[in-house]
Amino acid sequence: MKILVVKYLPGREYSNTAILYNHFLKKVEGNHQIEEIDLEQNPPPFFDHKTLMAYYRRNYQGKELSSDQKNAIGVMDKLIDKVEWADIVLITSPMHNFGMPGVVKLWFDAIIQKGRTFDYTSEGIPYGKLKGKKALVLFTSGGEYSCHQVTLNYPEWDTYSFHVKIMLTFLGFDNAEVVTAATANPHSKEKNLLIAKNRIDEIIKNWNLVNAAESIHKI
Ligand SMILES: Cc1cc2nc3c(=O)[nH]c(=O)nc-3n(C[C@H](O)[C@H](O)[C@H](O)COP(=O)(O)O)c2cc1C
Repeated sequence: MKILVVKYLPGREYSNTAILYNHFLKKVEGNHQIEEIDLEQNPPPFFDHKTLMAYYRRNYQGKELSSDQKNAIGVMDKLIDKVEWADIVLITSPMHNFGMPGVVKLWFDAIIQKGRTFDYTSEGIPYGKLKGKKALVLFTSGGEYSCHQVTLNYPEWDTYSFHVKIMLTFLGFDNAEVVTAATANPHSKEKNLLIAKNRIDEIIKNWNLVNAAESIHKI
């Protein structure tokens, strides 16, 4: 399988979320092609005027771009190439301010492009073009939230799970799993991380990603 990792873990070796990501890596490494985009090192560009005009011109009006315009939107195009390459996209970051960190949203803004990753039917209904792919989102937060719905009533404040699932569904992903763990309470942190690791193991098994060498070793 080809796995694209989109990570923003600025805590680096102190990152709680990296505990979940490293657990995933340890379980699947060896059997898959894994490519990593580090959003901390290489933040995606945002739509400034030039890039936005290039996007409208090319993706909505079907017009040619100048080389300057091509260069402006080219960075976003390369990010889409990588998503198209992947069978599985793994997104991993902490929760910041009840949602995904801005740089993760920037990555989504760069790759959600009409004509490449979504389009409209002749009746004007949008549809995702990233069919046949799976996504796994791993994040940790300080607090514990309910993610069945988002409201203004605490603890229904987890917009990360909601928003990321909406975008992945819009893009046509067949399966989008979100695994989270709350880390602020020292009495429940380890238990929460363990529950999350077990859920990651289940997903790895369901998606047939288990490291063959490891399964042989267990037998
Ligand atoms: C800038 C910032 C904003 C945060 N916002 C939230 C938040 O809205 N809700 C929450 O529960 N935790 C929040 N946290 C706590 C982190 O999500 C939590 O500590 C997480 O485990 C950190 O993961 P990391 O170690 O991988 O960076 C925030 C932390 C930072 C640094």
